[in-house]
Amino acid sequence: MPYSRWALAARRFPHVRVAQPPPGGRVFAWGLVILGLGLLAIATAPLGIAGAQTAPATAPVESAPPNGQFGSANFCAPIPCDPGPRKLPPAAGGAMPNLTSTQMGFFTQGQTTFEEVDTVSNGLGPRFNMNSCAGCHAYPAVGGSSPPTNPQAAITGQSIPSFITATGPVREVRFVKNADGTPDGGVHDLFVNPGCGLSQPDFAGALGANNAIFRIPTPTFGAGLIEAIPDATIVANMKASAGQKAGLGISGRTNNSGNDGTVTRFGWKAQNKSLVMFAGEAYNVEQGVTNEVFPNERDICSTQSATPEDFTGNGGAAQSDVTQFGLFMQMLAPPTAQQPNPFTQHGQQVFSQAGCDMCHTPSLTTGPSTIAALSNQKANLYSDLLIHDMGSGLADNISQGGASGNEFRTAPLWGVGQRLFFLHDGRTSDLMEAIQQHASSGSEANQVVGNFNNLNTFDKETLLVFLRSL
Ligand code: HEC
Ligand code: HEC
Repeated sequence: MPYSRWALAARRFPHVRVAQPPPGGRVFAWGLVILGLGLLAIATAPLGIAGAQTAPATAPVESAPPNGQFGSANFCAPIPCDPGPRKLPPAAGGAMPNLTSTQMGFFTQGQTTFEEVDTVSNGLGPRFNMNSCAGCHAYPAVGGSSPPTNPQAAITGQSIPSFITATGPVREVRFVKNADGTPDGGVHDLFVNPGCGLSQPDFAGALGANNAIFRIPTPTFGAGLIEAIPDATIVANMKASAGQKAGLGISGRTNNSGNDGTVTRFGWKAQNKSLVMFAGEAYNVEQGVTNEVFPNERDICSTQSATPEDFTGNGGAAQSDVTQFGLFMQMLAPPTAQQPNPFTQHGQQVFSQAGCDMCHTPSLTTGPSTIAALSNQKANLYSDLLIHDMGSGLADNISQGGASGNEFRTAPLWGVGQRLFFLHDGRTSDLMEAIQQHASSGSEANQVVGNFNNLNTFDKETLLVFLRSL
Protein backbone atom coordinates (compact mmCIF):
# COMPACT_ATOMS: atom_id res chain seq x y z
CA MET A 1 0.00 0.00 0.00
CA PRO A 2 2.03 2.99 -1.21
CA TYR A 3 2.06 5.55 1.56
CA SER A 4 3.34 8.16 -0.87
CA ARG A 5 -0.14 8.30 -2.43
CA TRP A 6 -1.68 9.09 0.89
CA ALA A 7 0.88 11.78 1.51
CA LEU A 8 0.18 13.16 -1.93
CA ALA A 9 -3.53 13.17 -1.22
CA ALA A 10 -2.92 14.97 2.03
CA ARG A 11 -0.95 17.66 0.21
CA ARG A 12 -3.50 18.02 -2.53
CA PHE A 13 -6.48 18.05 -0.23
CA PRO A 14 -5.26 19.67 2.98
CA HIS A 15 -8.85 19.81 4.23
CA VAL A 16 -9.00 16.01 4.17
CA ARG A 17 -7.25 14.43 7.11
CA VAL A 18 -5.49 11.50 5.55
CA ALA A 19 -4.16 9.15 8.18
CA GLN A 20 -1.58 6.50 7.42
CA PRO A 21 -3.73 3.53 6.50
CA PRO A 22 -3.89 0.66 8.97
CA PRO A 23 -2.49 -2.56 7.53
CA GLY A 24 -5.04 -4.44 5.47
CA GLY A 25 -8.03 -2.27 6.42
CA ARG A 26 -10.68 -3.15 3.83
CA VAL A 27 -12.28 0.23 4.01
CA PHE A 28 -8.95 1.87 3.38
CA ALA A 29 -8.12 -0.46 0.54
CA TRP A 30 -11.43 0.55 -1.00
CA GLY A 31 -10.59 4.17 -0.37
CA LEU A 32 -7.27 3.69 -2.11
CA VAL A 33 -8.95 2.44 -5.25
CA ILE A 34 -11.15 5.51 -5.32
CA LEU A 35 -8.17 7.68 -4.54
CA GLY A 36 -6.20 6.03 -7.29
CA LEU A 37 -8.97 6.77 -9.74
CA GLY A 38 -9.23 10.26 -8.33
CA LEU A 39 -5.56 11.01 -8.78
CA LEU A 40 -5.70 9.58 -12.26
CA ALA A 41 -8.61 11.77 -13.22
CA ILE A 42 -7.02 14.80 -11.65
CA ALA A 43 -3.73 14.10 -13.39
CA THR A 44 -5.44 13.81 -16.75
CA ALA A 45 -7.76 16.77 -16.26
CA PRO A 46 -6.01 19.27 -14.02
CA LEU A 47 -8.37 21.70 -12.33
CA GLY A 48 -10.71 22.42 -15.21
CA ILE A 49 -12.44 19.01 -15.25
CA ALA A 50 -14.69 20.47 -17.88
CA GLY A 51 -16.08 17.31 -19.41
CA ALA A 52 -17.06 15.76 -16.13
CA GLN A 53 -18.73 18.88 -14.84
CA THR A 54 -22.29 18.62 -16.02
CA ALA A 55 -22.57 15.35 -17.87
CA PRO A 56 -24.98 13.21 -15.88
CA ALA A 57 -23.91 9.60 -15.56
CA THR A 58 -25.59 7.37 -18.08
CA ALA A 59 -28.36 5.68 -16.17
CA PRO A 60 -30.55 3.33 -18.09
CA VAL A 61 -34.06 3.42 -16.69
CA GLU A 62 -35.22 0.08 -15.28
CA SER A 63 -31.70 -1.30 -15.39
CA ALA A 64 -29.88 -3.60 -13.04
CA PRO A 65 -27.57 -1.95 -10.48
CA PRO A 66 -24.70 -0.37 -12.37
CA ASN A 67 -21.88 -2.08 -10.57
CA GLY A 68 -20.40 -3.03 -7.25
CA GLN A 69 -23.08 -5.35 -6.01
CA PHE A 70 -22.26 -8.67 -7.50
CA GLY A 71 -18.73 -8.26 -8.74
CA SER A 72 -15.63 -8.14 -6.60
CA ALA A 73 -13.82 -4.81 -6.55
CA ASN A 74 -15.89 -3.32 -9.32
CA PHE A 75 -15.50 0.43 -9.29
CA CYS A 76 -16.87 2.98 -11.63
CA ALA A 77 -14.78 5.00 -14.03
CA PRO A 78 -14.27 7.66 -15.01
CA ILE A 79 -15.03 9.44 -11.75
CA PRO A 80 -17.10 11.15 -10.63
CA CYS A 81 -19.57 8.31 -10.76
CA ASP A 82 -21.65 6.22 -8.41
CA PRO A 83 -19.45 3.45 -7.00
CA GLY A 84 -22.57 1.27 -6.85
CA PRO A 85 -24.28 -0.48 -3.98
CA ARG A 86 -22.19 -1.82 -1.14
CA LYS A 87 -21.90 -5.56 -1.21
CA LEU A 88 -23.88 -7.87 1.04
CA PRO A 89 -24.19 -8.91 3.84
CA PRO A 90 -27.05 -6.51 4.50
CA ALA A 91 -26.28 -3.60 6.81
CA ALA A 92 -29.93 -3.63 7.91
CA GLY A 93 -32.75 -5.97 8.83
CA GLY A 94 -32.11 -6.69 12.51
CA ALA A 95 -34.03 -5.60 15.58
CA MET A 96 -33.33 -2.41 17.55
CA PRO A 97 -30.78 -3.03 20.29
CA ASN A 98 -31.98 -3.20 23.89
CA LEU A 99 -35.44 -4.64 23.34
CA THR A 100 -37.07 -6.58 26.16
CA SER A 101 -37.64 -10.26 25.52
CA THR A 102 -41.38 -9.61 25.09
CA GLN A 103 -40.64 -6.95 22.49
CA MET A 104 -38.17 -9.26 20.77
CA GLY A 105 -40.94 -11.84 20.59
CA PHE A 106 -43.24 -9.31 18.89
CA PHE A 107 -40.45 -8.43 16.46
CA THR A 108 -39.85 -12.04 15.46
CA GLN A 109 -43.53 -12.86 15.18
CA GLY A 110 -44.15 -9.68 13.18
CA GLN A 111 -41.33 -10.51 10.81
CA THR A 112 -42.81 -13.95 10.15
CA THR A 113 -46.19 -12.42 9.32
CA PHE A 114 -44.50 -9.73 7.18
CA GLU A 115 -42.93 -12.59 5.18
CA GLU A 116 -46.09 -14.69 5.01
CA VAL A 117 -47.27 -15.32 1.45
CA ASP A 118 -51.01 -14.76 1.12
CA THR A 119 -53.24 -16.82 -1.10
CA VAL A 120 -56.85 -16.34 -2.11
CA SER A 121 -57.92 -18.55 0.79
CA ASN A 122 -56.43 -16.20 3.38
CA GLY A 123 -57.63 -12.99 1.81
CA LEU A 124 -55.42 -12.13 -1.18
CA GLY A 125 -57.25 -9.92 -3.66
CA PRO A 126 -59.65 -9.46 -5.41
CA ARG A 127 -56.95 -7.13 -6.72
CA PHE A 128 -53.32 -7.10 -5.60
CA ASN A 129 -49.80 -5.92 -6.46
CA MET A 130 -47.94 -8.71 -4.68
CA ASN A 131 -48.67 -11.50 -2.23
CA SER A 132 -46.50 -10.55 0.77
CA CYS A 133 -45.05 -7.45 2.39
CA ALA A 134 -41.56 -8.94 2.13
CA GLY A 135 -42.03 -9.57 -1.60
CA CYS A 136 -41.71 -5.83 -2.20
CA HIS A 137 -39.89 -4.75 0.97
CA ALA A 138 -37.09 -7.20 0.29
CA TYR A 139 -33.67 -5.70 -0.16
CA PRO A 140 -31.04 -5.72 1.23
CA ALA A 141 -33.09 -7.54 3.91
CA VAL A 142 -36.74 -8.07 4.82
CA GLY A 143 -38.25 -4.64 5.47
CA GLY A 144 -36.22 -2.91 2.77
CA SER A 145 -36.97 -1.86 -0.78
CA SER A 146 -36.99 -3.43 -4.21
CA PRO A 147 -34.80 -6.51 -4.77
CA PRO A 148 -32.60 -6.94 -7.90
CA THR A 149 -35.10 -9.35 -9.47
CA ASN A 150 -38.67 -8.04 -9.41
CA PRO A 151 -40.97 -10.79 -8.10
CA GLN A 152 -43.94 -9.04 -9.74
CA ALA A 153 -42.54 -10.08 -13.13
CA ALA A 154 -42.79 -13.72 -12.07
CA ILE A 155 -46.51 -13.74 -11.16
CA THR A 156 -48.14 -16.31 -13.41
CA GLY A 157 -51.53 -16.42 -15.08
CA GLN A 158 -51.71 -12.63 -15.49
CA SER A 159 -50.67 -10.19 -18.12
CA ILE A 160 -47.52 -8.37 -16.98
CA PRO A 161 -47.57 -4.64 -17.85
CA SER A 162 -44.61 -3.28 -19.82
CA PHE A 163 -43.25 -1.25 -16.89
CA ILE A 164 -42.77 -4.39 -14.80
CA THR A 165 -39.57 -6.14 -15.83
CA ALA A 166 -37.45 -8.80 -14.16
CA THR A 167 -34.49 -6.47 -13.65
CA GLY A 168 -36.52 -3.31 -12.96
CA PRO A 169 -37.87 -2.11 -9.61
CA VAL A 170 -40.99 -3.32 -7.82
CA ARG A 171 -43.66 -0.81 -8.78
CA GLU A 172 -47.19 0.16 -8.05
CA VAL A 173 -49.19 2.40 -10.35
CA ARG A 174 -51.39 5.40 -9.76
CA PHE A 175 -53.57 6.92 -12.43
CA VAL A 176 -53.54 10.70 -12.53
CA LYS A 177 -57.07 11.19 -13.91
CA ASN A 178 -60.29 9.28 -14.35
CA ALA A 179 -61.72 8.69 -17.80
CA ASP A 180 -63.96 11.77 -17.39
CA GLY A 181 -60.95 14.00 -16.63
CA THR A 182 -61.57 14.36 -12.87
CA PRO A 183 -58.59 13.68 -10.58
CA ASP A 184 -58.04 10.01 -9.73
CA GLY A 185 -54.72 9.59 -7.89
CA GLY A 186 -55.50 6.10 -6.62
CA VAL A 187 -53.45 2.91 -6.85
CA HIS A 188 -54.59 0.57 -9.64
CA ASP A 189 -53.46 -2.93 -8.76
CA LEU A 190 -51.59 -4.96 -11.33
CA PHE A 191 -53.22 -8.33 -10.73
CA VAL A 192 -56.65 -9.92 -10.14
CA ASN A 193 -57.86 -13.14 -8.57
CA PRO A 194 -58.81 -15.44 -11.39
CA GLY A 195 -62.08 -16.41 -9.73
CA CYS A 196 -63.45 -12.90 -9.18
CA GLY A 197 -64.78 -12.03 -12.62
CA LEU A 198 -62.61 -8.90 -12.79
CA SER A 199 -60.12 -7.87 -15.45
CA GLN A 200 -56.75 -6.17 -15.13
CA PRO A 201 -56.72 -2.42 -15.75
CA ASP A 202 -55.79 -1.10 -19.19
CA PHE A 203 -52.21 -0.18 -18.38
CA ALA A 204 -51.14 0.15 -22.01
CA GLY A 205 -53.93 2.68 -22.54
CA ALA A 206 -53.01 4.61 -19.39
CA LEU A 207 -49.36 4.72 -20.43
CA GLY A 208 -50.32 5.88 -23.91
CA ALA A 209 -52.45 8.66 -22.40
CA ASN A 210 -49.61 9.68 -20.07
CA ASN A 211 -51.94 8.90 -17.20
CA ALA A 212 -49.83 6.43 -15.18
CA ILE A 213 -47.19 7.21 -12.56
CA PHE A 214 -45.14 4.79 -10.50
CA ARG A 215 -44.01 4.40 -6.93
CA ILE A 216 -41.34 2.06 -5.61
CA PRO A 217 -41.27 0.74 -2.03
CA THR A 218 -39.76 3.01 0.60
CA PRO A 219 -37.63 0.99 3.05
CA THR A 220 -38.95 0.59 6.58
CA PHE A 221 -35.62 0.24 8.43
CA GLY A 222 -35.55 2.63 11.36
CA ALA A 223 -39.20 3.52 10.79
CA GLY A 224 -39.95 3.26 14.51
CA LEU A 225 -37.46 6.03 15.17
CA ILE A 226 -39.06 8.19 12.47
CA GLU A 227 -42.44 7.58 14.10
CA ALA A 228 -41.05 8.62 17.51
CA ILE A 229 -39.74 12.05 16.41
CA PRO A 230 -41.97 14.68 18.04
CA ASP A 231 -43.78 17.13 15.77
CA ALA A 232 -42.12 20.00 17.65
CA THR A 233 -38.68 18.66 16.67
CA ILE A 234 -39.64 18.53 13.00
CA VAL A 235 -41.06 22.06 13.14
CA ALA A 236 -38.03 23.46 15.02
CA ASN A 237 -35.71 21.91 12.42
CA MET A 238 -37.85 23.40 9.66
CA LYS A 239 -37.34 26.85 11.15
CA ALA A 240 -33.60 26.38 11.75
CA SER A 241 -31.03 27.94 9.36
CA ALA A 242 -33.84 30.02 7.86
CA GLY A 243 -31.50 32.54 6.25
CA GLN A 244 -29.33 29.91 4.60
CA LYS A 245 -32.35 28.00 3.31
CA ALA A 246 -33.97 31.15 1.95
CA GLY A 247 -30.70 32.06 0.24
CA LEU A 248 -30.73 28.68 -1.51
CA GLY A 249 -34.41 28.94 -2.46
CA ILE A 250 -35.41 26.14 -0.09
CA SER A 251 -38.69 26.31 1.82
CA GLY A 252 -40.46 23.05 2.64
CA ARG A 253 -43.45 22.42 4.84
CA THR A 254 -45.04 19.69 6.88
CA ASN A 255 -47.78 17.43 5.57
CA ASN A 256 -50.44 17.18 8.28
CA SER A 257 -53.11 14.65 9.13
CA GLY A 258 -56.62 15.63 8.15
CA ASN A 259 -57.73 13.78 11.29
CA ASP A 260 -55.73 15.06 14.24
CA GLY A 261 -53.64 17.75 12.58
CA THR A 262 -50.28 16.26 13.59
CA VAL A 263 -47.34 15.88 11.21
CA THR A 264 -47.61 12.92 8.84
CA ARG A 265 -44.31 11.43 7.75
CA PHE A 266 -44.44 8.08 5.94
CA GLY A 267 -44.53 7.45 2.20
CA TRP A 268 -43.00 9.38 -0.71
CA LYS A 269 -45.17 12.42 0.04
CA ALA A 270 -45.13 12.06 3.84
CA GLN A 271 -48.83 11.32 3.40
CA ASN A 272 -49.26 8.72 6.08
CA LYS A 273 -49.40 9.12 9.84
CA SER A 274 -48.21 5.89 11.40
CA LEU A 275 -46.77 2.47 10.76
CA VAL A 276 -49.94 0.69 11.83
CA MET A 277 -51.95 2.92 9.50
CA PHE A 278 -49.51 2.30 6.65
CA ALA A 279 -49.63 -1.43 7.34
CA GLY A 280 -53.43 -1.41 7.28
CA GLU A 281 -53.48 0.52 4.03
CA ALA A 282 -50.77 -1.62 2.42
CA TYR A 283 -52.49 -4.84 3.45
CA ASN A 284 -55.64 -3.74 1.64
CA VAL A 285 -54.08 -1.86 -1.29
CA GLU A 286 -51.09 -4.08 -2.11
CA GLN A 287 -52.51 -7.46 -1.15
CA GLY A 288 -56.26 -6.91 -1.04
CA VAL A 289 -56.48 -8.10 2.57
CA THR A 290 -59.12 -6.13 4.48
CA ASN A 291 -58.30 -5.45 8.11
CA GLU A 292 -59.27 -3.47 11.18
CA VAL A 293 -57.72 -0.25 9.84
CA PHE A 294 -59.12 -0.56 6.29
CA PRO A 295 -62.09 -2.93 6.62
CA ASN A 296 -63.78 -2.60 3.22
CA GLU A 297 -62.82 -4.37 -0.01
CA ARG A 298 -61.60 -2.00 -2.72
CA ASP A 299 -63.40 -4.00 -5.40
CA ILE A 300 -66.09 -6.62 -5.37
CA CYS A 301 -65.27 -10.24 -6.05
CA SER A 302 -68.07 -12.47 -7.29
CA THR A 303 -67.21 -14.74 -4.35
CA GLN A 304 -66.76 -12.03 -1.73
CA SER A 305 -65.52 -13.12 1.70
CA ALA A 306 -66.60 -11.69 5.06
CA THR A 307 -64.65 -8.62 6.09
CA PRO A 308 -62.31 -7.76 7.63
CA GLU A 309 -60.25 -10.75 6.59
CA ASP A 310 -57.53 -9.96 9.14
CA PHE A 311 -58.77 -9.31 12.68
CA THR A 312 -57.79 -9.71 16.32
CA GLY A 313 -58.66 -13.21 17.44
CA ASN A 314 -58.49 -14.68 13.93
CA GLY A 315 -57.51 -18.33 14.50
CA GLY A 316 -57.02 -17.47 18.16
CA ALA A 317 -54.27 -14.91 17.42
CA ALA A 318 -53.85 -12.37 20.21
CA GLN A 319 -52.87 -9.71 17.67
CA SER A 320 -54.13 -8.97 14.22
CA ASP A 321 -51.61 -9.11 11.38
CA VAL A 322 -51.74 -5.33 11.08
CA THR A 323 -50.70 -4.92 14.73
CA GLN A 324 -47.90 -7.42 14.16
CA PHE A 325 -46.64 -5.54 11.09
CA GLY A 326 -46.68 -2.31 13.07
CA LEU A 327 -44.64 -3.77 15.93
CA PHE A 328 -42.14 -5.39 13.57
CA MET A 329 -41.48 -2.13 11.72
CA GLN A 330 -41.37 -0.07 14.92
CA MET A 331 -38.58 -2.25 16.24
CA LEU A 332 -36.70 -2.69 12.97
CA ALA A 333 -33.27 -1.11 13.46
CA PRO A 334 -31.99 1.60 11.10
CA PRO A 335 -29.32 0.65 8.58
CA THR A 336 -25.76 0.64 9.94
CA ALA A 337 -23.49 3.05 8.12
CA GLN A 338 -19.97 2.07 7.21
CA GLN A 339 -17.13 3.08 9.54
CA PRO A 340 -16.15 6.62 8.48
CA ASN A 341 -12.88 6.99 6.57
CA PRO A 342 -11.17 10.14 5.29
CA PHE A 343 -13.09 10.00 2.02
CA THR A 344 -16.54 9.55 3.49
CA GLN A 345 -15.74 12.22 6.07
CA HIS A 346 -14.71 14.62 3.36
CA GLY A 347 -17.80 13.63 1.35
CA GLN A 348 -20.01 14.42 4.31
CA GLN A 349 -18.46 17.89 4.54
CA VAL A 350 -19.03 18.42 0.83
CA PHE A 351 -22.65 17.23 1.23
CA SER A 352 -23.16 19.92 3.79
CA GLN A 353 -21.21 22.63 1.94
CA ALA A 354 -23.27 22.08 -1.21
CA GLY A 355 -26.43 22.48 0.89
CA CYS A 356 -27.81 18.93 0.60
CA ASP A 357 -28.23 18.94 4.38
CA MET A 358 -30.67 21.86 4.18
CA CYS A 359 -33.27 19.22 3.25
CA HIS A 360 -31.50 15.98 4.11
CA THR A 361 -31.10 16.87 7.84
CA PRO A 362 -28.41 14.47 9.13
CA SER A 363 -30.21 13.60 12.37
CA LEU A 364 -33.33 14.29 14.41
CA THR A 365 -33.84 13.09 17.98
CA THR A 366 -36.80 11.01 19.09
CA GLY A 367 -38.92 11.84 22.13
CA PRO A 368 -39.80 9.54 24.99
CA SER A 369 -41.37 6.32 23.71
CA THR A 370 -43.16 3.49 25.47
CA ILE A 371 -40.68 1.27 23.61
CA ALA A 372 -37.65 2.29 25.68
CA ALA A 373 -35.21 1.41 22.86
CA LEU A 374 -36.79 4.18 20.77
CA SER A 375 -36.64 6.85 23.49
CA ASN A 376 -34.46 9.93 23.06
CA GLN A 377 -32.44 8.37 20.27
CA LYS A 378 -30.53 10.20 17.60
CA ALA A 379 -32.00 9.03 14.30
CA ASN A 380 -29.43 9.57 11.51
CA LEU A 381 -32.08 9.61 8.85
CA TYR A 382 -30.82 12.41 6.55
CA SER A 383 -34.29 13.88 6.13
CA ASP A 384 -36.23 16.85 7.49
CA LEU A 385 -39.45 14.85 6.92
CA LEU A 386 -40.81 17.91 5.11
CA ILE A 387 -42.34 18.06 1.67
CA HIS A 388 -40.60 20.20 -0.96
CA ASP A 389 -41.47 21.38 -4.44
CA MET A 390 -39.17 19.24 -6.58
CA GLY A 391 -40.01 20.84 -9.89
CA SER A 392 -41.60 19.73 -13.12
CA GLY A 393 -39.10 16.93 -13.73
CA LEU A 394 -40.07 14.91 -10.66
CA ALA A 395 -43.70 16.06 -10.38
CA ASP A 396 -46.18 13.19 -10.64
CA ASN A 397 -49.35 15.30 -10.45
CA ILE A 398 -50.75 13.25 -7.59
CA SER A 399 -51.78 15.08 -4.44
CA GLN A 400 -51.80 13.25 -1.11
CA GLY A 401 -52.86 14.96 2.10
CA GLY A 402 -51.38 18.46 1.93
CA ALA A 403 -48.76 17.46 -0.65
CA SER A 404 -49.43 18.61 -4.18
CA GLY A 405 -48.39 17.08 -7.48
CA ASN A 406 -44.85 18.42 -7.39
CA GLU A 407 -44.10 17.98 -3.68
CA PHE A 408 -42.22 15.06 -2.16
CA ARG A 409 -40.87 14.17 1.25
CA THR A 410 -37.10 14.59 1.51
CA ALA A 411 -36.21 10.94 1.05
CA PRO A 412 -34.31 9.64 4.10
CA LEU A 413 -30.84 8.68 2.92
CA TRP A 414 -29.93 6.13 5.58
CA GLY A 415 -29.50 2.83 3.79
CA VAL A 416 -28.88 4.30 0.31
CA GLY A 417 -25.50 2.52 0.43
CA GLN A 418 -27.29 -0.72 -0.38
CA ARG A 419 -30.26 0.62 -2.33
CA LEU A 420 -30.68 -0.50 -5.94
CA PHE A 421 -33.30 1.96 -7.22
CA PHE A 422 -33.80 5.64 -6.51
CA LEU A 423 -36.48 8.34 -6.55
CA HIS A 424 -40.21 7.80 -6.10
CA ASP A 425 -40.67 5.95 -9.38
CA GLY A 426 -37.35 4.10 -9.37
CA ARG A 427 -36.30 5.89 -12.53
CA THR A 428 -32.61 5.39 -11.87
CA SER A 429 -30.11 3.11 -10.15
CA ASP A 430 -27.43 5.74 -10.33
CA LEU A 431 -26.85 8.24 -7.53
CA MET A 432 -25.35 10.79 -9.90
CA GLU A 433 -28.52 10.70 -11.98
CA ALA A 434 -30.68 10.86 -8.82
CA ILE A 435 -28.91 14.10 -7.87
CA GLN A 436 -29.28 15.60 -11.36
CA GLN A 437 -33.00 14.75 -11.33
CA HIS A 438 -33.41 17.12 -8.34
CA ALA A 439 -33.04 20.03 -10.76
CA SER A 440 -35.87 21.12 -13.03
CA SER A 441 -38.18 24.06 -13.46
CA GLY A 442 -39.52 25.17 -10.08
CA SER A 443 -37.46 22.81 -7.91
CA GLU A 444 -36.34 24.03 -4.49
CA ALA A 445 -33.14 22.02 -5.02
CA ASN A 446 -31.97 23.86 -8.16
CA GLN A 447 -29.33 25.99 -6.46
CA VAL A 448 -27.99 23.09 -4.44
CA VAL A 449 -27.64 20.97 -7.58
CA GLY A 450 -25.86 23.94 -9.14
CA ASN A 451 -23.46 23.93 -6.18
CA PHE A 452 -22.92 20.22 -6.66
CA ASN A 453 -22.21 20.62 -10.36
CA ASN A 454 -19.61 23.29 -9.56
CA LEU A 455 -17.64 20.98 -7.29
CA ASN A 456 -14.38 19.50 -8.48
CA THR A 457 -14.17 15.84 -9.43
CA PHE A 458 -12.66 14.71 -6.16
CA ASP A 459 -15.29 16.46 -4.08
CA LYS A 460 -18.12 15.02 -6.18
CA GLU A 461 -16.67 11.54 -5.91
CA THR A 462 -16.25 11.72 -2.14
CA LEU A 463 -19.86 12.88 -1.85
CA LEU A 464 -21.01 9.81 -3.80
CA VAL A 465 -18.73 7.56 -1.76
CA PHE A 466 -20.19 9.11 1.38
CA LEU A 467 -23.74 8.37 0.18
CA ARG A 468 -22.77 4.75 -0.50
CA SER A 469 -21.39 4.52 3.05
CA LEU A 470 -24.86 5.20 4.53
C1 HEC B 1 -46.50 -4.30 -4.24
C2 HEC B 1 -45.41 -3.95 -3.40
C3 HEC B 1 -45.69 -3.68 -1.94
C4 HEC B 1 -46.20 -4.53 -1.00
C5 HEC B 1 -46.72 -5.94 -1.19
C6 HEC B 1 -46.15 -3.82 0.24
N1 HEC B 1 -45.64 -2.57 0.07
FE1 HEC B 1 -45.24 -1.22 1.52
N2 HEC B 1 -44.71 0.13 0.12
C7 HEC B 1 -44.77 -0.08 -1.24
C8 HEC B 1 -44.65 1.18 -1.92
C9 HEC B 1 -44.66 1.37 -3.43
C10 HEC B 1 -44.49 2.16 -0.93
C11 HEC B 1 -44.39 3.68 -1.14
C12 HEC B 1 -45.83 4.17 -1.22
C13 HEC B 1 -45.96 5.64 -1.51
O1 HEC B 1 -45.56 6.43 -0.66
O2 HEC B 1 -46.47 5.99 -2.57
C14 HEC B 1 -44.53 1.47 0.34
C15 HEC B 1 -44.37 2.08 1.58
C16 HEC B 1 -44.52 1.45 2.80
C17 HEC B 1 -44.32 2.08 4.09
C18 HEC B 1 -43.83 3.50 4.33
C19 HEC B 1 -42.41 3.54 4.84
C20 HEC B 1 -41.84 4.95 4.83
O3 HEC B 1 -41.07 5.30 5.69
O4 HEC B 1 -42.19 5.71 3.93
C21 HEC B 1 -44.65 1.16 5.04
C22 HEC B 1 -44.62 1.36 6.53
C23 HEC B 1 -45.04 -0.05 4.34
N3 HEC B 1 -44.94 0.16 2.98
C24 HEC B 1 -45.46 -1.22 4.95
C25 HEC B 1 -45.92 -2.34 4.26
C26 HEC B 1 -46.50 -3.50 4.89
C27 HEC B 1 -46.69 -3.70 6.37
C28 HEC B 1 -46.83 -4.37 3.90
C29 HEC B 1 -47.58 -5.69 4.00
C30 HEC B 1 -48.88 -5.62 4.56
C31 HEC B 1 -46.45 -3.74 2.65
N4 HEC B 1 -45.90 -2.52 2.91
C32 HEC B 1 -46.60 -4.35 1.43
C33 HEC B 1 -44.90 -1.29 -1.88
C34 HEC B 1 -45.37 -2.44 -1.27
C1 HEC C 1 -35.00 20.94 -1.60
C2 HEC C 1 -34.72 19.79 -0.80
C3 HEC C 1 -33.62 18.85 -1.26
C4 HEC C 1 -32.29 19.15 -1.49
C5 HEC C 1 -31.60 20.49 -1.40
C6 HEC C 1 -31.66 17.90 -1.84
N1 HEC C 1 -32.57 16.88 -1.82
FE1 HEC C 1 -32.21 14.94 -2.22
N2 HEC C 1 -34.18 14.55 -2.18
C7 HEC C 1 -35.17 15.46 -1.88
C8 HEC C 1 -36.47 14.89 -2.15
C9 HEC C 1 -37.81 15.56 -1.94
C10 HEC C 1 -36.24 13.59 -2.65
C11 HEC C 1 -37.27 12.59 -3.17
C12 HEC C 1 -37.63 13.00 -4.59
C13 HEC C 1 -38.43 11.99 -5.39
O1 HEC C 1 -38.39 10.80 -5.07
O2 HEC C 1 -39.09 12.37 -6.36
C14 HEC C 1 -34.79 13.41 -2.63
C15 HEC C 1 -34.13 12.24 -3.01
C16 HEC C 1 -32.77 12.05 -2.94
C17 HEC C 1 -32.10 10.81 -3.23
C18 HEC C 1 -32.79 9.50 -3.61
C19 HEC C 1 -33.17 8.75 -2.35
C20 HEC C 1 -34.19 7.67 -2.58
O3 HEC C 1 -34.68 7.12 -1.58
O4 HEC C 1 -34.52 7.33 -3.71
C21 HEC C 1 -30.77 11.03 -3.08
C22 HEC C 1 -29.65 10.02 -3.24
C23 HEC C 1 -30.59 12.41 -2.72
N3 HEC C 1 -31.83 12.99 -2.63
C24 HEC C 1 -29.38 13.03 -2.51
C25 HEC C 1 -29.23 14.40 -2.45
C26 HEC C 1 -27.96 15.09 -2.52
C27 HEC C 1 -26.62 14.41 -2.64
C28 HEC C 1 -28.22 16.42 -2.45
C29 HEC C 1 -27.25 17.57 -2.57
C30 HEC C 1 -26.49 17.62 -3.82
C31 HEC C 1 -29.66 16.57 -2.30
N4 HEC C 1 -30.22 15.32 -2.32
C32 HEC C 1 -30.31 17.78 -2.15
C33 HEC C 1 -34.98 16.74 -1.40
C34 HEC C 1 -33.78 17.43 -1.49
